[in-house]
Amino acid sequence: MLEDLTASGVIRKLYAWETALLKAHFLRLDADARHGRFAAGVSDATVSAYADKALGPDAIVHGFFVDGVLRGAAELRLMPAHTGEVAVSVEEDWRLTGVGSALFGRLLLTARNRGLTDLVMTCLPSNRAMQRLAARFEGRITYASGDSHARVAARPATPLSLWRELWRDSAAAAETVVERQIGLIRRAPGWSGAR
Ligand SMILES: CC(C)(COP(=O)(O)OP(=O)(O)OC[C@H]1O[C@@H](n2cnc3c(N)ncnc32)[C@H](O)[C@@H]1OP(=O)(O)O)[C@@H](O)C(=O)NCCC(=O)NCCS
Repeated sequence: MLEDLTASGVIRKLYAWETALLKAHFLRLDADARHGRFAAGVSDATVSAYADKALGPDAIVHGFFVDGVLRGAAELRLMPAHTGEVAVSVEEDWRLTGVGSALFGRLLLTARNRGLTDLVMTCLPSNRAMQRLAARFEGRITYASGDSHARVAARPATPLSLWRELWRDSAAAAETVVERQIGLIRRAPGWSGAR
């Protein structure tokens, strides 16, 4: 399996009503990360306007949550003719711990299970981090020379890939409940850590 996530947190799909979480995540990205994600320097207003529409019916977004705060996102936008557009962003303190790769793996699994075969990712040629991440999925990502767009080929769905998505969604739901309960216990009066 191509996931060595060492950061602790929960990866799950975002719900349509979680726009505020996604917006806050985008707004926390530093200038370089925003430039990498949007292939341009974008203002807070532009980022907010984008986030307002990002969880529409044409999108499936996976998020990486730590204590209920969204620290990373992998966006899949469904387009006509079995194509899609993809993007990944991880906040600085959670990078280099496998979060980007884990999110990208979930995104590819979801894409193949939706019958998407051809995905496009905007990625500046100077974006070493994303290119290294992409290299981990060797054989499925190609760059046209000098272009800022990468093409990602998703494999066809199988009964196993469908089962894996279902299993991961179920596991994430259970993890979310446990994480919330731990959060409630920690905030309870008189809680003083491990005894
Ligand atoms: C690209 C990005 C998502 C990677 O996230 P991440 O959580 O650090 O990724 P991972 O920990 O899974 O690392 C994946 C690979 O990238 C490499 N990498 C990560 N950051 C790097 C950097 N700044 N320079 C060089 N390589 C880097 C890792 O070493 C790893 O490679 P390896 O397996 O060969 O060691 C993150 O840097 C980011 O959010 N950047 C800003 C947004 C962006 O540019 N998005 C891409 C365009 S949509």
